[in-house]
Amino acid sequence: MEDRVRIFDSTLRDGEQAPGIALDPEQKVAIATQLARLGVDIIEAGFPISSPGDFRAVTRIAQEVQGPTIAALARAQPQDVDRAWEAIKDAADPRIHVFLATSPIHMEHKLRMSEEDVMATVKANVARARDYTENVEYSPEDATRSEPDFTVAVCQAAVDAGATTINIPDTVGYATPTDYGYLIERVVREVKGDRHDVVVSAHCHNDLGLAVANSLAAVAAGARQVEGAINGIGERAGNTSIEEVVMALRVRADAYGVGVGVTTEEIYETSRLVSEQTGYPVQYNKAVVGRNAFAHESGIHQHGVLRERTTYEIMDPMAVGMGDSVIVMGKHSGRAAFKHSLDQLGIGVSDTVFEAAFNRMKELGDQSGEVSREQIREIVEEVASSLEVLDGVTASFQ
Ligand code: KIV
Ligand code: ZN
Repeated sequence: MEDRVRIFDSTLRDGEQAPGIALDPEQKVAIATQLARLGVDIIEAGFPISSPGDFRAVTRIAQEVQGPTIAALARAQPQDVDRAWEAIKDAADPRIHVFLATSPIHMEHKLRMSEEDVMATVKANVARARDYTENVEYSPEDATRSEPDFTVAVCQAAVDAGATTINIPDTVGYATPTDYGYLIERVVREVKGDRHDVVVSAHCHNDLGLAVANSLAAVAAGARQVEGAINGIGERAGNTSIEEVVMALRVRADAYGVGVGVTTEEIYETSRLVSEQTGYPVQYNKAVVGRNAFAHESGIHQHGVLRERTTYEIMDPMAVGMGDSVIVMGKHSGRAAFKHSLDQLGIGVSDTVFEAAFNRMKELGDQSGEVSREQIREIVEEVASSLEVLDGVTASFQ
C-alpha cells in the first residue's frame, strides 16, 4: 500500500470554534462540498451535541457530501457518542471522534477526574462508539502537557476498546517540533497491541506559530494523519493550516517521502470560500494562499522571475489554483519589470518616454507603495504628452 498521509479537515469543527464564526447548515454544506472537491480524506463536520444547528449541519453533510469520511466529535460521554452517531449514520464512511483529556491540569481543574476515572471513561465510550461503527478516533486532549506514560496507557486502552485512529492533540500549542516528534514516535512504536490498522494522527494549535512545523515533525516521526483547518482558522491563534501542510509534503517530497491525496489546484478556491463564508480575511503574506504568496515587487526578484519563475518561486501558483505569478510595481521595481508591465498593458514607448515614465513611477511608488495598472497608464499618457510638446517623442496605446 502507498505510504500516504491522510488529511483530516476540521475547518467545520475546530476551525469554526474561532471567535465570531458561526456557520449555518447551508454554509457548512457548501464548504464541505468544496472540501470533497479538494480531496481531503476526512471531514470533521461538527460537534453534533453542541447545538441543534450543528446537529442539522452534520446530518446534512453526512447525507449529501460524497467522497471523504465524515467525522463527528463527541466528549467521552454516552449522550455525546449517541448524538454523534445519530448525525453521521447515513454517511458512506462515518467516524466518531471521542476525546477526553489526560493532562494533570485538565483532569484536576476541568474534569475533576482521577487517572482511573479517565481510563475507565475512555474505555467505555470508545467501546460504545465502536458498537456503532468500525471507524473510531480517540484523542487524549492536552496530550503534550500530559504524563507520556499515562497518555500512552490511555491510548492503548482506547485501541483495545476499538479505536482505529489515535490523535495526539497539542491543544494549547505548547509543543516544539522536537518534543512533539518524540511523543508521536513513542505512540507509533508503543500503541498498537496486536493490531495493524492503528493510524497515529497529529493535531496542532498555533499559539507559538509552530502548528505546521509540529505537524510535519509528526509526519517525520510516523504520523499518517494530519488534522487542521483551511487558512489555519481555529481557537485563539488557530489550527494547523491544511494548505501549508499539503504543499510542504508535495514540494518537499524529497524530505518526507509520503504521498498526500489532495487535488492541490482546488486549494485557492477552498481558501477563498472559507474566508468568504467565515468573514475571516486571509492575511496578505499568508503562505500558499495569501495575495502576496506569488507577487514580486523588488527589481532583483522581478528580473529573476521574468527570466525564469523558479529563481524566486518554489511552487507554481497554478498548482494551488492561483493563476499566474504577479509582478507588482512600486519603489523597489526595476526597468525589466516596468517594461513587462507596459507590454502587458499593450503600451509601446520610445526610450525617452520610457525613462521619464519609469522615474515618475518610482516617485509615485515612494509616496504610495503599490503603483496600479491604471496609474501606470496615466503616467505614460502624461509623460508622453508633455515630452511630445518638447521634441515629438511618442507613446502608442493599444
Ligand atoms: O485541540 C484539541 O485538543 C481538540 C480535541 C477536541 C481533539 O480539538
Ligand atoms: Zn483542537
